[in-house]
Amino acid sequence: MCGIVGGISSAGTVLQHLIEGLRVLEYRGYDSCGVAVAEGGAVTVRRKVGRLSELERVLSDGALAGARAGIGHTRWATHGKPSDENAHPHSDGSGRLALVHNGIIENYLELRRELLAEGRVFHSETDTEVLTLLVGREYERGRSLGDSVRAALARVRGYYAIAVISTGKNPELVGARHGPPLVVARTKDGAWLASDVLALLPHTREVTYVEDGEVVELSPGRIVITDLAGLPIERAPRRVDWDAEAAGKGGFAHHMLKEIFEQPDVLARTAFDRIAQVHGDVSFEGEGWQDERLARVQRVQVIACGTALHAGMIARYLIEGLARVPVDFDFASEFRYRGPCLVPGTMALAITQSGETADTLAALRLARDLGAFPASICNVIGSTVVRESGAVILTHAGPEIGVASTKAFTAQVVAAFLLAVRLARARGTLDEAQGRSLLDDLRRLRPRMEGLLTEATVDKVRRIAERHLHAKGFFFLGRGVNYPVALEGALKLKEISYVHAEGYAAGEMKHGPIALIEPGMPIVVLSSPGVVQDKVRSNIEQVKARGGHVIVIGADREALALADESIEVPEAIEWLSPILNVIPLQLLAYHHALGRGCDIDKPRNLAKSVTVE
Ligand code: F6R
Repeated sequence: MCGIVGGISSAGTVLQHLIEGLRVLEYRGYDSCGVAVAEGGAVTVRRKVGRLSELERVLSDGALAGARAGIGHTRWATHGKPSDENAHPHSDGSGRLALVHNGIIENYLELRRELLAEGRVFHSETDTEVLTLLVGREYERGRSLGDSVRAALARVRGYYAIAVISTGKNPELVGARHGPPLVVARTKDGAWLASDVLALLPHTREVTYVEDGEVVELSPGRIVITDLAGLPIERAPRRVDWDAEAAGKGGFAHHMLKEIFEQPDVLARTAFDRIAQVHGDVSFEGEGWQDERLARVQRVQVIACGTALHAGMIARYLIEGLARVPVDFDFASEFRYRGPCLVPGTMALAITQSGETADTLAALRLARDLGAFPASICNVIGSTVVRESGAVILTHAGPEIGVASTKAFTAQVVAAFLLAVRLARARGTLDEAQGRSLLDDLRRLRPRMEGLLTEATVDKVRRIAERHLHAKGFFFLGRGVNYPVALEGALKLKEISYVHAEGYAAGEMKHGPIALIEPGMPIVVLSSPGVVQDKVRSNIEQVKARGGHVIVIGADREALALADESIEVPEAIEWLSPILNVIPLQLLAYHHALGRGCDIDKPRNLAKSVTVE
């Protein structure tokens, strides 16, 4: 979703840093971009619909190259179509101030009317311009930029992260947050802000997360944090353990492919240090995961979106199966508005890669307000969900840049498995020996994942993908713990290949969707040894009888023998089979998209982290 960068320096110019920062944020998805710099007593804005390369073209005259303070933005349209006029930064018309914004100003129509009545002129359809003019009005009254921002924000209802630049005697740079993330960092001669910590890593790994209701004033080597009333707030920076290299492609053609291949290491990072093998148990950081609390859990309510919800659906099979605790799951966006009834003793479990997804965060807050204990599985240290959770399992998957989530999903499933074992041990539904055996199975998964990620498999998947490049649509079928994997396979293909794909519970096909099957239609079926393997084989026969072209993925040899095409996956216990079965599905989507010439890391219309409702 939209990205913000900003910087002020006494020792060097900032434009190149702004562009590099925006490039780091490109993965989040955007449709226009722009920068504003303060130089020579004026603020100059340049913005462009389309990719960053378009903006670089208009900046190539070098006119802004000497500036020592500036802000930049990548926009994912919400109010108003993608266009040069709607792109950020927005200026207040004075030539002295410009602003970028992530989020939504809910009362913008009422504020716009008020500003129009004063004779102020709008040049865009955005809610952001309203905020810009509000700040500008305060600035005209002779306030500092920090005071102007605080006064303007007092009038605003909504969610925002903003950065504002102005030039008076000296350039000023101010940020503020209520909702979408904002992170700041200082260096010896500079100060920097961004909506994503990745954009700060080229400057430093010591960063400070801005909290809701805070305003930050940046000057070279200095950052002052205040609340909206101007009262100072002290907060020590935190060290980020990701480095800038982790966000690179590491020799792979795409981030997505690199991230698929990282998965064996991700399994190790999420799990291995937490396995207490002698006790057949798992140890998580924090008191929220201790026996006493877990013994009180009556129900788990999973809330998540997209791929993370698929991991949450798998969590249901694992937690109910191993710990015998009932689990409900909801799309976070649905949970919020269905008037949920939570029983006492509910643990609300938010699953989120970014920790900033607006619906997930709001659903977690709602669950907390309804009396649930807020817990989360999350990849980003310092993210809002992490900070608002009473207990957190960090997945340690490293930065995920590809918009289509791969390694984050695997890490979430691994974390859910660890949680299921921990809950089961705390509640006595697993003994030490059973715990040890399950954790052994988890450890043994790593070499199996590596064995699957070979050139031979990749080649085989690529050939299958290429054979079906022109298929009208795909079905992905699975049962039990592999039903959510089927949903995930379909989602991956839709996202990056733009082909209609439907994920379905294999046993449900005969209740309607089987009518869609036409001769030759690719039907991907997941089949692993376990309680439903015989049932899946019958479902394969039903599909074949209607002329469907069956592609079986899994370790069930008999099902593989029934297939028109197949990818054999190493065997694992049923609970862990999703972690292996999803890999060929990710590769299938990747190669299908590649064959169709799609922009794999930046699929159309999608944003990496959805910070608006
Ligand atoms: C799919 C994908 C999305 C995210 C969803 C939740 O590939 O990436 O469906 O899973 O937007 O995002 P997080 O996990 O950041 O809350």
